[in-house]
Amino acid sequence: MSEGQAPGKVILLGEHAVVHGGWALALPWPAVEAVATATAAVGATQVVSEAGDYDVRGLTAAARAVRAEGCVVALRSSVPVGAGLGSSAATALAVVRAVAAFNGQACDELGCADVAERFAHGTPSGLDAATVAAAGPILFRRGDGARPVAGGALPALVVADTGRPRNAAEAVAAVAERLDRHRTLVDALGQAALPGAAALEAQDWDGLGQLMDEAQDRLATLGVSHPDLDRLVAVARAAGALGAKLTGAGRGGCVVALAPDAATARALASTLLDAGATRAWTMDGPV
Ligand code: PMV
Repeated sequence: MSEGQAPGKVILLGEHAVVHGGWALALPWPAVEAVATATAAVGATQVVSEAGDYDVRGLTAAARAVRAEGCVVALRSSVPVGAGLGSSAATALAVVRAVAAFNGQACDELGCADVAERFAHGTPSGLDAATVAAAGPILFRRGDGARPVAGGALPALVVADTGRPRNAAEAVAAVAERLDRHRTLVDALGQAALPGAAALEAQDWDGLGQLMDEAQDRLATLGVSHPDLDRLVAVARAAGALGAKLTGAGRGGCVVALAPDAATARALASTLLDAGATRAWTMDGPV
């Protein structure tokens, strides 16, 4: 029996812009994770889901890209589905890692996981898969891949779920439709990832928070926020967040808020739950 794991992910800056050639800043979110277990079996390799609404067809295709025969992969995951925390990328990478470990051989993890991502998203930017595979924060641009962002302490982040499922494909299509009119806005969303990475490296949390607030305004103008997201963003800011925005494709899913320290992050998570968030996490786990 062999196991593979992968965390969720949080996009700090650059969602949507990254689809159109811009930069994004994102980090793995270990508070949630997918775990896959591969065992020997007769016949074609397949994935069975122990919980959650996963696209087992895509995951099975990814598993077969590593090993076509003789393996059954059981999957469990605490990464919420449809919340913008990278559930499809995390489950795909966990499956690929479990099968590669079963084989006793390294494989092109991202290439194999991408097989499942294409089932789930059509033509994803690759940001989600690169982030769940990364050891820490990354700057990402399509074609360039991931660049690790150095830095000491990670920011004290809170993620809270509106409970409203987001439809990534629909939100991505809506931005593509408006691209001609909003090109400057989309470019600005991507450009912000560069000073965002510098702020993260310098642990300039006020600077990073301000960039997150500005990104939220731009994402709302692009039409990918939602009143439920706007409300949680406002609650987080009123309760002491240095910055807050939607994370992922938007129109539902989660907000991410930056706190000045870990204790404030936990307090913020409780406040967001009191305000109607269905789930909340700090970097350490669920609150
Ligand atoms: O699938 P989500 O909600 O994690 O969003 C991914 C980020 C987008 O930039 C909106 C899409 C993409 O392919 O990068």
